[in-house]
Amino acid sequence: MSETILVLGASGQIGNELTQRLRVLYGNNNVIASDIREGNNQMMSSGPFELIDATDKETILKVIKKYNVSQVYLLAAMLSATAEKFPQKAWDLNMNSLLAVLDLAKEKHIKQVYWPSSIAVFGPTTPKENTPQKTIMEPSTVYGISKLSGEFWCNYYHKKYGVDVRSLRYPGIISWKTKPGGGTTDYAVDIYFKAIEDGNYECFLSENTRLPMMYMNDAVEATIKIMQAKPKDVKIRSAYNLAAIDFTPKEIALEIKKHIPNFTITYKPDFRQEIADSWPSSINDNDAKQDWNWNPKFDLESMTEDIISNLKAE
Ligand code: SER
Repeated sequence: MSETILVLGASGQIGNELTQRLRVLYGNNNVIASDIREGNNQMMSSGPFELIDATDKETILKVIKKYNVSQVYLLAAMLSATAEKFPQKAWDLNMNSLLAVLDLAKEKHIKQVYWPSSIAVFGPTTPKENTPQKTIMEPSTVYGISKLSGEFWCNYYHKKYGVDVRSLRYPGIISWKTKPGGGTTDYAVDIYFKAIEDGNYECFLSENTRLPMMYMNDAVEATIKIMQAKPKDVKIRSAYNLAAIDFTPKEIALEIKKHIPNFTITYKPDFRQEIADSWPSSINDNDAKQDWNWNPKFDLESMTEDIISNLKAE
């Protein structure tokens, strides 16, 4: 498998860990990390890095030519909570970066594109439990509107121009190496850091808010799996539903208490509660399972064990 890969948004939560995994699989020098800001030491020292604004098509093209890039993973985006504060900026970043990369694929500068969608494409009128792949989609956030529009663009470029673009509707992604920024599901990351540092956490969602979630290791695995699948097995060219676990703040707090018995949690819902309430509580990902053998490895228990032991060892 010889590919040269450009990761846009490599300093972000998913970009960082995805880049490191891709470097292991494809060779350090074959994975070019890029972002508008430099990454951590490991990223900067383990392979090439370029400063790129993901909406700047000309610079992306220059880097593609410089390294002879064959695949682009576009991870740059503004997440749900920040996007509500800066709607125009979010729309410009989330849409213009996608259209730039899709155009570069249409113009045959690259062979394959990965772009993430999100559970935010669903809205308050969507069936909440076991949300199907095809269902009512009326997103009520700017982020969700940009992701749903992006899905339609991906499908359009695939059907009309034969662009090989692949996409997943990520649930909330939980990590400990890099923190997310500006998302509604971020509480499930912050809670681990606060539990270890302070022994307590004030949650910005209410105790029974159930959301679909996934450990970073599974998210990285799914991303690489769909990119490595045979083109004929990728039957959905908008974006696949993807699931692993779902839980409430109360349930994750109880799981943390098994490791840190004195841990306490309080609840002070803010504007992010309304965003969370508009999203599904669990997702049906049968299509991903059938089409390209998706199978998550981590549940709430094993994820919590892994995160806490890693954070304690830091
Ligand atoms: N985790 C994201 C957010 O909260 C959802 O895709 O914005």
